[in-house]
Amino acid sequence: MYYSDEIIEEVRSRNDIVDVIGSYVNLKRKGNSHSACCPFHHEKTPSFHVSREKQMYHCFGCGVGGNVFTFLMEHENFTFPEAMEALAERAGYDLPKQEMSANEKKQADTRTRIKDMNKLAAGYFHYLLKTDHGAIALQYLKDRGLSDDTITKFGLGFSDVYRDDLYKYLKNKGYKDEDLNDSGLVKFDEKYGFSDRFWNRVMFPIIDTNNRVIGFGGRVLGDAKPKYINTQDTLVFDKSRNLYGLNLAKKSKRQGIIFCEGYMDVISMHQAGFDNAVASLGTALTVGQVNLIKRFTDRAYLAYDSDEAGTKAALRALEIMREFEMPARVISLKPYKDPDELIQAEGVDELEKRINEAKSGTMFEIDILAHNYNQEDPQERTQFQKEAAKRLALITDPMERKNYIDSVAKHYDIEKDSLKEAVTQYGIAGGTKVDTSVFRERNRKSPEEEKEQQQLKTERLLISWMINEPILFEILQDTIQPDDFFEPVYHDVVKQLYEQYHREKKVIPAAIMNHYQSKEEHEKVSMIMQQDFEIPVAQSEKSKVVTDLVKTIKLRSIEHQMEMQKGDLTKQSELIIEKVRIEKMKPIIIQGSV
Ligand code: UTP
Ligand code: MN
Repeated sequence: MYYSDEIIEEVRSRNDIVDVIGSYVNLKRKGNSHSACCPFHHEKTPSFHVSREKQMYHCFGCGVGGNVFTFLMEHENFTFPEAMEALAERAGYDLPKQEMSANEKKQADTRTRIKDMNKLAAGYFHYLLKTDHGAIALQYLKDRGLSDDTITKFGLGFSDVYRDDLYKYLKNKGYKDEDLNDSGLVKFDEKYGFSDRFWNRVMFPIIDTNNRVIGFGGRVLGDAKPKYINTQDTLVFDKSRNLYGLNLAKKSKRQGIIFCEGYMDVISMHQAGFDNAVASLGTALTVGQVNLIKRFTDRAYLAYDSDEAGTKAALRALEIMREFEMPARVISLKPYKDPDELIQAEGVDELEKRINEAKSGTMFEIDILAHNYNQEDPQERTQFQKEAAKRLALITDPMERKNYIDSVAKHYDIEKDSLKEAVTQYGIAGGTKVDTSVFRERNRKSPEEEKEQQQLKTERLLISWMINEPILFEILQDTIQPDDFFEPVYHDVVKQLYEQYHREKKVIPAAIMNHYQSKEEHEKVSMIMQQDFEIPVAQSEKSKVVTDLVKTIKLRSIEHQMEMQKGDLTKQSELIIEKVRIEKMKPIIIQGSV
C-alpha cells in the first residue's frame, strides 16, 4: 500500500508525539521539553527527550530518535504501514484504500496552485501598503496602535481601489482565469467579467500552521458595511479547521491558547506580548478548531466580546470544549468590549491580571444562569438550582464534581446536600451532545507537501528496498552510488546507509534520522521507510522490481553526467560503456536476506 505524502503528513500531524509517546512512557514536563528514562536502553537518569514543537524524540544516551512513526516502528516493531494504520486509527482517520486517482491528483495540483497565488497576493498587498496607494491604510493601522513590527509579523496589506488590480497582477504572473477562479481571490460576473473579491480594504492574510497563506480577511477603512469580507471556502481554505494567529501562537511560551473573536484582537494581544491568542475566521468556534489546538495545548481561555452576542458565543464554545475535554476558562473584559479595547485602555498588566483571574468554564456558565433567574423569587430560585445541578451533573470526574458542588453551594448559598442530591438525580452526561462525526470525516482539504515527482519516488523506492533488504548494499555497491541520487537528502541518506552498513553490517534507519534537524528533511527521511514489504513478493518479482529501479536511476544519472560533461570525449565514451553495461544488466538476485 502506497500512501501519498499528503496523507502521511495528515496522519502524522493528527498524532501529537507527546501524547503518543506519553501513553508508553511516563513523560515529565520541563519547559518545552518532555523527558523520561529511555525505553530503548537501560538508564537511571532520563536522557530521552520528546519535543512537542519539533514533533521529534531523541535519546542523548543511546542516540535513537525520530518522529511519531519511527517511535512506533521501534517500540512496537511495526513496519511503516502498520505504524500508519495504528496512528490513523488512533486519530479516527480513515485511510484511503487506493492510490490517488487522476481526479485526486488534479485536486492536489489545484491546491498547490491556489497556495502559490495566495502567497503572491499576500506579498503584493503587503507591498502596496508601503506605497503611496496604501498610505491611508497604513495610517489607519498606525492610528489603531499597530507598530511596524506587528504589521510585518502579521503580513498586513492593502488591496488597491481599482476593482481588478490583483486580477491583473496575477494574470501578469501567468495564471489563467480558471486558476484565479479556484483561488477565490476574484469573482466572475456575466456583465463585468472578472473582478477582485477584495478591494480598498486592509488585508489580513490567514496563515495555517504550516505557514502557508490559505485565505484572507479584508477590513474596510471606515465604518462601511460589511466590516469584514473573508475568503470563501476553497480547496485550501476551510474556515472550520483553521484559526487566525495559530501559526504564531503554536510557538508561544505562554500557557494555553487564548481565543478571541476578532482579527484585530489577536493582533493587539500579540503586540502586547500575549502571543498565544487566536481567533476563528468569521464564524463561531467549531469542533475542528478545538481538535486542532489539542495538538498544541491542554488549556483554553476565552476572551470573547463582553456583549450579549459574545457571551452567547462563549457559552457555545464552552460546550464544544467540554465535549473535547479541553479545560477552558473565561476572561472577563468588562467594562470593555473586547481585548483590543481593554489593552488600549488599561494596558498589559490589567490583561495579565484578568487572565489570572479567569473563571472556569463551569463557574462562568453557572454565573450566567444565576443572572437569568430572579434569586429573590422562590420559584425562579428553585429553577436556577435545578439548572445548575444539571450543569454540574455533566462533570464526569467525581472529585471535580464534588469540588464544584461545594463551591456552587457556598457561592449561591444553596444547601449542599440538596444540591448534591439533585446532581445525582440528573445523572452524568445528561446534557447536549455535540456531533463529533464532523471531524472524523476523511479530511481531503488538509495541507499537503509539494507535488511528488516521479523521479523522487523511484529514488525513494530503491532506498526503501535497500533498507528492507540490506544485502543490497553489498550487491549494489559497484553499481549505485550516492551521487546517482538527485534529491540531496536521499543522496545523503544513501551515503550514510552505505557507511553504516560497512561499519555495522546492518542498517538502523532511526539512527539515520538523527542526522537531520529540519522537519522537512526529517519527513523526507521517514518517508523512505513507508513502502510495504510485508506483502509476500515472489523472488523473481522482487528481482524484477529492484532491477528496474536500479536501471531507471542509473540510466538517468548517466544521462545527466553525459549532459554535464559534453566536451569531455574520454568521459563520454566511458559513460557510453557504462550505459550499455546497465542496459544489459542481469536481474539482481536478492539472496541471503529475510
Ligand atoms: P468584530 O466586529 O468584533 O471585529 O468582529 P474586530 O476584529 O474586533 O475588528 P475591529 O476592532 O472592529 O476593527 C469579530 C470578527 O468577526 C468577523 C471577523 O473575523 C472579525 O474579526 N466578522 C466581523 C466578519 O467576518 N464580518 C463582519 O462583517 C464582521
Ligand atoms: Mn475590535
